[in-house]
Amino acid sequence: MGSTTLPTTQKALVVPSQGVPGEVRDDIPVPEPSSTQVLVKVLYAAINPVDVFTTQLGLLVEAWPFVPGSEASGVVVKAGSDAVSPLGGKFKEGDIVSGCVRLGVAGHGTFAEYFLLDAEVAVPKPKALTLPQAATVAVGALTAFLGIFGELGISIEGIEEGKGQGGGKWIIVFGGAGATGKFAVQALKLAGYKVVTTCSTKSFELVKSLGADATVDYKLAPDEIVEQVKQITERELDLAFDAVSVNNDLVAKIFTAIPSSSGQRLYTTTNDWDPAPDAALGFITKGITLGPIGRPESAELNKKLTSWIPVINRLLGSGKLKPGDYSVEGTGVEGIQQAWDAQKSGKLGNKKVIVKIADE
Ligand SMILES: NC(=O)c1ccc[n+]([C@@H]2O[C@H](COP(=O)([O-])OP(=O)(O)OC[C@H]3O[C@@H](n4cnc5c(N)ncnc54)[C@H](OP(=O)(O)O)[C@@H]3O)[C@@H](O)[C@H]2O)c1
Repeated sequence: MGSTTLPTTQKALVVPSQGVPGEVRDDIPVPEPSSTQVLVKVLYAAINPVDVFTTQLGLLVEAWPFVPGSEASGVVVKAGSDAVSPLGGKFKEGDIVSGCVRLGVAGHGTFAEYFLLDAEVAVPKPKALTLPQAATVAVGALTAFLGIFGELGISIEGIEEGKGQGGGKWIIVFGGAGATGKFAVQALKLAGYKVVTTCSTKSFELVKSLGADATVDYKLAPDEIVEQVKQITERELDLAFDAVSVNNDLVAKIFTAIPSSSGQRLYTTTNDWDPAPDAALGFITKGITLGPIGRPESAELNKKLTSWIPVINRLLGSGKLKPGDYSVEGTGVEGIQQAWDAQKSGKLGNKKVIVKIADE
């Protein structure tokens, strides 16, 4: 792609103030990338649960009116002079990227025609992925890696060569069919663990195809879930990952019913807002916090993500990490609200909801 003449204004879904429905406007400034950012033309935007937290609760939102949207795939139309890719080398116009953006910051929302992406956390599209698939991977994969290789301290060594260091120990993933859960199950298998995961019965086949060793229906009574987990793991379970943010009570029940085999128990959860379970129960809880991604003050987080993105990129490229199914539920900025409503309804089950914003 040659040098493009960019418009000065763009269409976007704009939320006037907290809790107020969004409206499509066509007078939103096209932002200017800093030296370490790229400006991306949105091709596919994904809907995420956090989009409700920003717009309804004001989470991380710096100013209203606000353009929501946290994830997309698209084409770089302008690159800062020092916008270095996590894969090495500088980004240039025409590169295809996806990413999880700075949440709550003007110019970064993906429910628009253009958005800013911090180069160090951009996820370049592997050839093997389609553009819509690329829009669905960043938030889930980065969150899963943050939980596994960050908070749980699991070794990333050997995961690309089939030589994960987990030694076949059991871990439970709550919500293996969700966007984060699918990547958590796959990454934990690559890291050498045996995975038992909760999901609904209609997702059993899917999570098994991703490598899960055992499944438990999360709709069963908690005592029945505990019993099944006890039997499956033969009472050897010291690690847990809640990928759907609602399992603090259940993990406490499970860990109470199964005495620790190592005396060192860790639980990580995408729920970084509720109080952690009582430490007196004998396990440490570590919340996953992807929200501050990209912000200059999140240097430590950004550095970790930058180091994992090449691994994620190669694993997606080789098919060792598979993206989840998706459903295109709208077209153009005008189609975002309809897609968002479809996502909120839950009727699309374990599919990620995306919107086709523009042609390449
Ligand atoms: N703290 C952070 O940095 C961070 C980062 C990313 C996400 N999150 C949070 O993590 C949560 C998950 O986000 P996501 O986008 O990965 O999920 P998602 O794809 O929206 O999750 C949907 C899936 O959750 C499963 N599910 C629902 N209730 C469940 C339960 N009680 N037990 C097990 N599975 C259940 C359903 O599986 P079935 O289809 O099988 O019914 C459904 O397919 C959200 O609350 C999000 O805000 C936090």
